[in-house]
Amino acid sequence: MNAAIRAVVRTGLEYGIEVYGIRQGYLGLLNGDFHKLTSFEVSGILQRGGTILQTARTDEFKTPLGQKKGLRRLNEKGIEGLIIIGGDGSLRGGLALHKMEFPVVGVPGSIDNDLDGTNMSIGVDTALNTILDSLDRIRDTASSHTRAFVIEVMGRNCGYLAIMTAILGGAEVVSTPERELSMQDIASALADAYERGKSHAIAVIAEGVSYETTDLVNYLRNQSEVGFDIRLTLLGHIQRGGSPTAFDRLLATRMGVKAFEALREGQSGVMVALDGRDLTLIPIEKAIAKSREINPSYFELARILSR
Ligand code: F6P
Repeated sequence: MNAAIRAVVRTGLEYGIEVYGIRQGYLGLLNGDFHKLTSFEVSGILQRGGTILQTARTDEFKTPLGQKKGLRRLNEKGIEGLIIIGGDGSLRGGLALHKMEFPVVGVPGSIDNDLDGTNMSIGVDTALNTILDSLDRIRDTASSHTRAFVIEVMGRNCGYLAIMTAILGGAEVVSTPERELSMQDIASALADAYERGKSHAIAVIAEGVSYETTDLVNYLRNQSEVGFDIRLTLLGHIQRGGSPTAFDRLLATRMGVKAFEALREGQSGVMVALDGRDLTLIPIEKAIAKSREINPSYFELARILSR
């Protein structure tokens, strides 16, 4: 996200337009926490995870009154357009401002990759690389001790991170909200890996499945055919931090520039999206209407490669 902020500020400078950052998202908007961003302030932030502007979850902006108050703050400060970097909730707020005729352009930022209409959101690639790094380390213990690891990954209601982790990390089995496996199916997959003589097995479970991974592990431990000793790792917020990958820096930089230009050209109610190699603009409404679907061929790929 910092790379996107930097890109917005420096594109503004290019056009001679002042850019203000709002601290802590909609909370800062409601509190009038605006702060002029100079080139100097966005210098040296490309490699930093998180966001220099910070963020917050706030319910007040979800209400019509909160949204009106936000609009009032923008007008008080003489702001002419807003670029919102974030996921579903952030974009929903942006859409509300757009509907009140305030110019808004969105930039997709979420590790979940659940925004529809864009191939990738900012942060997904970095999170995936972090997960794979952790998985590779965990596998060392798994192989040395002939263990099976259940690894829970984030993603809210979307299984993108989980299915990619399974394919790229070489998991034996994966369960996601889109293709949820029963505990029994997971036990069978691990038992199969054991019978085939594998030194370890990895089960990747998306956080959005209907059962708790702790319950799954208890279940697996009671299935004698599983063979492996079972361990559970919840990767948690490790997945959200860290220095962005080259892919994410480039994506965020390009999206930041594109968002600024779109706003300058008078666009509103749109989100920057990655379509193949190109950046396009899609209605925010479309991006948040439903969770992005996972290409079904990835599930087949994960199954074939897990043998
Ligand atoms: O939406 C991003 C995400 O990291 C989800 O994958 C996860 O469910 C959630 O946010 C965690 O939120 P919090 O940091 O508020 O616990």
